[in-house]
Amino acid sequence: MFTEKIIPIVKEAAGLMKRSGFDIMEKDTAANIVTSSDLAVQHFLVGRLGKLIPGSGFLCEEEDLDDICHEYIWIIDPIDGTANYARGTSDCCISVALAKDGEVCAGVVYSPWRNELYTAEKGHGAFRNGVPVKVSDRSFEEGMLCAAFCTYYKEYSQTCSEIIYDIYMRSNDFRRFGSAAIELCMLAAGDIELYFEMKLQPWDFAAAGLIVKEAGGSICGFGGKPLDPFKPGMVIGGNTADNCEEIVRTVQKYLSALPY
Ligand code: IPD
Ligand code: CA
Ligand code: CA
Repeated sequence: MFTEKIIPIVKEAAGLMKRSGFDIMEKDTAANIVTSSDLAVQHFLVGRLGKLIPGSGFLCEEEDLDDICHEYIWIIDPIDGTANYARGTSDCCISVALAKDGEVCAGVVYSPWRNELYTAEKGHGAFRNGVPVKVSDRSFEEGMLCAAFCTYYKEYSQTCSEIIYDIYMRSNDFRRFGSAAIELCMLAAGDIELYFEMKLQPWDFAAAGLIVKEAGGSICGFGGKPLDPFKPGMVIGGNTADNCEEIVRTVQKYLSALPY
């Protein structure tokens, strides 16, 4: 099993995450930051995971690391929830996915300060701290929605707010934790039921997307299309296929095509 080999490396990488004492740098907008810890975690993971599968490629968030013409590709977000990390709050994690021949076959999401390790291997179920997890069976009306207003692409925030409002008015309530990987893993574990983000990057959803599927949930892109683990896209999730499709339909009331 790949996850057995990935877990100790991810846990060691988490030793590079600190509560304070790191540098914070701005990327393209003031909302989009990177810390010295993101870079340190990524360097560590690339070195160690590359040795695990010689000849494997990488698609990583930082430093434009995009080398995907290989049988095995690592898709890495060194810290998902960097804005939380930079504030010293707990909702952040390391996300590592392994794709073979274009399909994600293993995913590990580790949040050291939530003390949560989510893992999945294709066809072998999903786990939180080694215990199998399943999506909840709550209805749409009972469902808890996790969504975001597209922080890094604020030109889409108005549309996001209309979609979120529409779902919110027909469901239980709305949450926003600030780490897409953690939120998707919460969907897998039955803590939330409904998920919508206008634009995520592969490293945000690759590992957690497999974890959702292996927990019995549904995840897709705009129009219900399968997600491409190497391209950015809209991410829609549901504890059931019906709830996922209801979000797909809701999105289509406000958008006839992806705006990017
Ligand atoms: C972000 C988080 C956030 C989501 C953003 C992501 P980052 O990742 O997952 O929850 O709303 O779209 O980009 O920048 O913290 O790695
Ligand atoms: Ca991210
Ligand atoms: Ca990140």
